Amino acid sequence: MKARRFRAPGRVNLIGEHTDYNDGFVMPAALAFETVVKIKPRSDRTVTLHSKQFVDPVQFSLDEADAQPRNAWSDYVQGVAIELEQAGYRLQGADLAIDSNVPVGAGLSSSAALEVSSGLALSTVAGHTIERKELARICQRAENEFVGMKCGIMDQFISLHGEPNHAVLLDCRSLEYRAVPLPEHVRIVVCNTMVKHQLNGSEYNARRQDCMDAALLLGVATLRDIGYEQFCVMQDSLPERVRMRASHVIQEIERTERAADVLELGDLEQFGRFLFESHETLRDLYEVSCAELDLMVKLAQEQEGVYGARMTGGGFGGCTVNLVEAEHTERFRTQVAAAYRQATGIQPEIYVCAASGGAGEVLL
Ligand code: GLA
Repeated sequence: MKARRFRAPGRVNLIGEHTDYNDGFVMPAALAFETVVKIKPRSDRTVTLHSKQFVDPVQFSLDEADAQPRNAWSDYVQGVAIELEQAGYRLQGADLAIDSNVPVGAGLSSSAALEVSSGLALSTVAGHTIERKELARICQRAENEFVGMKCGIMDQFISLHGEPNHAVLLDCRSLEYRAVPLPEHVRIVVCNTMVKHQLNGSEYNARRQDCMDAALLLGVATLRDIGYEQFCVMQDSLPERVRMRASHVIQEIERTERAADVLELGDLEQFGRFLFESHETLRDLYEVSCAELDLMVKLAQEQEGVYGARMTGGGFGGCTVNLVEAEHTERFRTQVAAAYRQATGIQPEIYVCAASGGAGEVLL
């Protein structure tokens, strides 16, 4: 049988950070960075994985009872295969050759790109057409259950629903969404601090637990269910750490919905202010930033033609997202890179990005 190719993009989140697992709003965009899986079906139930980025090939059987994670990149693929079958989509064995240019550990969702591209590949060659929202859920479950990272739905969802030149406002409770056009005269610029974030670490799951504790103490199902005004009246009853976490999340959910509105109205100044505010509460209340991210935002703030900047993704390293006037991007790039290198000794990577389309088969 002939090989087929499937691609899935990484993403950058414009605003709505650590809100997805609180049933809130997020506003990511898919990027041109992507993972491509070349797949050749086999007649047995063995899956082999070769990656251009990771040397060791991996092989597993779809019939393996009680499969255990290897704590390796292959877990994302094996987890997706397991969840697909558990959802009733019987698979067949296949040889997968994987290639990706999504920076790893940069907070641009290289893992979601791997899950979605392999999930799409494995299910399609086995003859299934899975509704995109369902596939996003399956990939999220793979990461929650098999990899052990209790992520929300944002990354897998945007990888499947990205639209060229648009960000997507997603309601993570209902999974309703709308595409929000990005004005032609601005660019999304992503600055990689080159400090690796390690999300598998317990910090992410600990934040999630704090949010669940906060919701319980506030008497609501999730932090989506309480407005900021009401929270302010009740917040003194909460233990300090839990209060801080909830305060960020509740403000961020409201901010994200409003940010989508002002972006649609073309009010980039206000949109940019929301980005800066988001960074501040992530840094001071949610405590997921780091010195390098804070520096990168500060350097951006000093440049001409910058509307807003903030850390993006899970945090503890990785990237900032910046909204920059198109004509100023080159200057921004050189000046921020030089100043960051001078202050830290680290050479950053700076990407001028276009919002791209969601995952699909690559038809040659
Ligand atoms: C990671 C997770 C997402 C989301 C972000 C923070 O990227 O995978 O689900 O929670 O962190 O907004």
